Amino acid sequence: MKIGIIGIGAIGGIIAKKLAATGHEVKVYSSGGQQKLEERARELGVMPSTKDQIITDVEVLIVSVPTIAVPELSDLIAKVSDKMIVIDTSNYYPFRDGEIEDLKNGKVESVWVSETMGRPVIKAFNNLLAHSLEYGGKPEGTKDRIAMAVSGDDQQAKEIVSTLINDVGFDTVDAGTLADSWRHQPGTPAYCTELTVAELMQALTGGEKQEAAHLRDYVIGKFMEFSTPPTHEEVVALNRSLFPKNPKEH
Ligand SMILES: NC(=O)c1ccc[n+]([C@@H]2O[C@H](COP(=O)([O-])OP(=O)(O)OC[C@H]3O[C@@H](n4cnc5c(N)ncnc54)[C@H](OP(=O)(O)O)[C@@H]3O)[C@@H](O)[C@H]2O)c1
Repeated sequence: MKIGIIGIGAIGGIIAKKLAATGHEVKVYSSGGQQKLEERARELGVMPSTKDQIITDVEVLIVSVPTIAVPELSDLIAKVSDKMIVIDTSNYYPFRDGEIEDLKNGKVESVWVSETMGRPVIKAFNNLLAHSLEYGGKPEGTKDRIAMAVSGDDQQAKEIVSTLINDVGFDTVDAGTLADSWRHQPGTPAYCTELTVAELMQALTGGEKQEAAHLRDYVIGKFMEFSTPPTHEEVVALNRSLFPKNPKEH
């Protein structure tokens, strides 16, 4: 497919690299200047794009920026054709994104993103760490293949997004509508816990919406206590340990 990606940091970059490696036509844009963009694109094996061109002649647009940057992109994304699938990978972290009143008051993150951009989005690629995406992919049908959650209000778009995720080595679980997507936000059992399809289906029913923000901030506080940055395994283990009924804790 023809894919545009805005934001090529930890997660957008690895999505770009993996999709290009499986034969998709990928172009990328980020705000950090032409030289940085060109170097990063070369490293990822994809084409650099201008801001205007990133939304032209693509079937899928992946927006992979910190939540705080979403409003800066709303004018651009307002110009996107209705037929284009827009994927939102974001997770809201107040320590990074600042206080966003609606999100602080419990609005579902991707619902806010969709309203801010003025168009439907599919929430995907948010509930696995970049490290999992880079190293955890397996061929379709492999036992213990990790699954990603996909939410949104357009069934056909979710199926297309699931195909892309399968291409890069992961199963998917349809997690429901965009309004349901809080079930794979930070602070839930489905968030960055590396689960199989059956386990993720169970985890998606296990979160507490009112508790999620508190747990998200608790995890960040725990990481701050580490004298050196936690390893990937430590991050996943802490996320899993928050939930006594987590499928991986049985
Ligand atoms: N890291 C993970 O493991 C992970 C996993 C799942 C989901 N997520 C979520 O995905 C989103 C991106 O995360 P990340 O870790 O990849 O962040 P990151 O490493 O900080 O990268 C952010 C990217 O967005 C670009 N950017 C920022 N503002 C922009 C703007 N106004 N216009 C265009 N590009 C802009 C940055 O460009 P420059 O560097 O060129 O300025 C950079 O390429 C976040 O919401 C995050 O919570 C992250």
